[in-house]
Amino acid sequence: MGIEINLKGRRIVVVGASSGVGRSTALAVAARGGEIAVVGRRAQQLEEVVAAAGGGVAIPADLRDEDACARVVTAATDALGSVDAVLFPVGISPLQMMTRLTAATWSTAFATNVTGPALVTAAAIRARREPGLFLYVSSANVAQPAHGMGAYGASKAALDHSLRTWRLEHPEHRFLRLTIGATMPTEIANDFDHTVLGEVLPKWASNGLVTAEYMHVDDVGVAIAETVAFAFAHPAIAVDDVTLNPASAPVDATTLATMGELATAGDYDDHIDPVTGNFKL
Ligand SMILES: NC(=O)c1ccc[n+]([C@@H]2O[C@H](COP(=O)([O-])OP(=O)(O)OC[C@H]3O[C@@H](n4cnc5c(N)ncnc54)[C@H](OP(=O)(O)O)[C@@H]3O)[C@@H](O)[C@H]2O)c1
Repeated sequence: MGIEINLKGRRIVVVGASSGVGRSTALAVAARGGEIAVVGRRAQQLEEVVAAAGGGVAIPADLRDEDACARVVTAATDALGSVDAVLFPVGISPLQMMTRLTAATWSTAFATNVTGPALVTAAAIRARREPGLFLYVSSANVAQPAHGMGAYGASKAALDHSLRTWRLEHPEHRFLRLTIGATMPTEIANDFDHTVLGEVLPKWASNGLVTAEYMHVDDVGVAIAETVAFAFAHPAIAVDDVTLNPASAPVDATTLATMGELATAGDYDDHIDPVTGNFKL
């Protein structure tokens, strides 16, 4: 799977590497010779990623904590010698309609998805004189709002805006926006309230947001490692925007309505293939 790349000697921090896209990206980077530092709140999962990668350093940190964001860069620099790239496949995705979103949910979404990445970036830029590469994982949700995804989409739009400001203020570095569509299996939807899911799934049909098949998380991890290698191979080119979407048609409206009914009944997870993450009847 994938194309031949070599990340030997590249020191790469993956923020949000304890599960999902970040975990797969860290493993793909390490398998192609990169030296990794992996960041997330769950120390044990990070240690498991390091063990599976056959090397690297685990840096447990909560991005909602300003001091922890600075410590990520210090710890990664101490362990790797320097940092060539910081990747941010990090985030949370609250699922709730706008009238029911609490201040705490808005705050946590922005702290995790926007402020934390900005603080880690700031610390990395202060620590590094040579040009560096920063990659942020954005979402199709920025261009296409979806019911129940307001806080998430707003935070990703803010992340995109911060990225454009980073480019303006620090043209010596490169800031890559990687927009991804539905990718499974990951843990992003683990906390979804199934009543809300049942409510919004049929609505998502109207804008073709739910595809019949999702991208596999390991495939996406490899594609991100390849994107990073591509950017390293062309230091004079600002690789600004990359989009990865499932090569799949939208799911038909009847299936989507059934998904909604199953979610409302609490039976949705029974129809998710644990290997592919795809829905099956
Ligand atoms: N999966 C999709 O369909 C999809 C689609 C579009 C965009 N994305 C984006 O892809 C990225 C990865 O998502 P995923 O699907 O792989 O979800 P995931 O499996 O839930 O991974 C999210 C990662 O973020 C970390 N994280 C969350 N809160 C954190 C905090 N406060 N401090 C430090 N780390 C934190 C988690 O680690 P801990 O829990 O250990 O802290 C985990 O490693 C996110 O930016 C997401 O918005 C995903």
